[in-house]
Amino acid sequence: MKEERKQSVVLVPYLLQGHLTPMLQLGSILHSQGFSVIVAHTQYNSPNYSNHPQFVFHSMDDGLKGFDMSFPSVKSIHCMNESCKSPLRNYLVRMMEEEGDQLACIIYDNIMFFVNDVATQLRLPSIVLRTFSAAYLHSMLTILQQPEKYFPFEDSQLLNPLPELHPLRFKDVPIHVINNTVPEPLLDFYKRIHDIGSSVATIWNTMQDLENSMLLRLQKHYKVPFFPIGPFPKMVPLASSTSILEEDNSSIEWLDRQTPNSVLYVSLGSLVRIDEKELIETAWGLANSEQPFLWVIRPGSVPGFQCAEALPDGYEEMVGERGRIVKWAPQKQVLAHPAIAGFFTHCGWNSTLESICEQVPMICRPILADQLVNARYLTQIYKVGFELEVMERTVIEKTIRKLMLSEEGKDVKKRVVDMKQNIVAAMQIEGTSHKNLNDLVDFISALPS
Ligand code: UDX
Repeated sequence: MKEERKQSVVLVPYLLQGHLTPMLQLGSILHSQGFSVIVAHTQYNSPNYSNHPQFVFHSMDDGLKGFDMSFPSVKSIHCMNESCKSPLRNYLVRMMEEEGDQLACIIYDNIMFFVNDVATQLRLPSIVLRTFSAAYLHSMLTILQQPEKYFPFEDSQLLNPLPELHPLRFKDVPIHVINNTVPEPLLDFYKRIHDIGSSVATIWNTMQDLENSMLLRLQKHYKVPFFPIGPFPKMVPLASSTSILEEDNSSIEWLDRQTPNSVLYVSLGSLVRIDEKELIETAWGLANSEQPFLWVIRPGSVPGFQCAEALPDGYEEMVGERGRIVKWAPQKQVLAHPAIAGFFTHCGWNSTLESICEQVPMICRPILADQLVNARYLTQIYKVGFELEVMERTVIEKTIRKLMLSEEGKDVKKRVVDMKQNIVAAMQIEGTSHKNLNDLVDFISALPS
């Protein structure tokens, strides 16, 4: 821990698990650099305060009662941005009176775009945290700048390359398309969340060495300093749980009983849903592959079912000790376990980074948004995973065997080990993430108050 700087930063996370985690990790990183950290959060998905005794928390009235936030709509996001404005403004005014120039800046998730308006009114410097990959943001910006070049498209074009966006195809467009086009209000919403207003910098949960060309292009557009200081899961000095759901620690006891480098971990993150048919095909693919597996079936992830009851009758007895099914796992610990050999993932950016950091090769089953971009980069550019495009039991079984047992699988493993080495180098003194973090600390310390 660095000497106490006595400056405070206020963090405003977006309420989804995949966004809350990197913001809390950033808080721990900044705290270890001597900043006091205040987290202003929505009531919905409030973080577990006891896991972060080093932070001060402030809960904001979010106006979300009556919305189903298990899969937030554009309307609910607008409502939340509107509702949180006065609670945040009032809180900051009070803090500025109490703390004066000790309050250095406010750092917010770009989906909480109201923060920029509040900060501008109060003349408080604001910084955006980008919780996604630079490749994803670059593809979004390129599309948003000239949507007519991409929409509407024909079904026959789905496998064609997206202009200027190698290795993406039309089917990988990371925007919610309806009848092969994007309605104007949705385009406006995407533009709003990518606009940084008068914010003075952006922080990235990525590595300069990995995404340099994308970052350079994006910087030309945004014209503010960029601080890529990832990967957060490894830059965090003391990892405490950031889970909203309760972690099932029996997963680790089960892994302890497995042979090293033998288990496939299966999880599709905290948000996406699959239908019953896909669950059944996955179940048979896993069973028929004859490889040990640890499978997270999150409650609600198969609409109409709580957890494993959508599985074929007698399934769990049939796979026996070779398979373990849980509702939510301590994923970072799971991926770091010596028994893990592969990760069947939806390619959310946190899961992607966590997997690379533990040198675990992937089977990529993206479903929406940035996952589609991440999956293409993982399989086509970095070549550390295999793409799973047909959710059919024989294809799933073959892909699992390819990852776990084949020569091709060994090559993929070697490449992810190399990637991990590069990440370790970036975090060392003189490494880019380490250096960028020092620059960020100097930048925040020098902000006018
Ligand atoms: C969402 C989006 O879907 C994702 O594409 C975007 O990049 C971030 O926001 P999510 O779908 O939840 O996130 O995916 P991901 O980014 O991978 O985050 C999931 C987090 O939950 C990871 O940090 C993972 O470690 C954690 N997790 C997941 C658990 O702790 N236990 C589990 O059982 C499953």
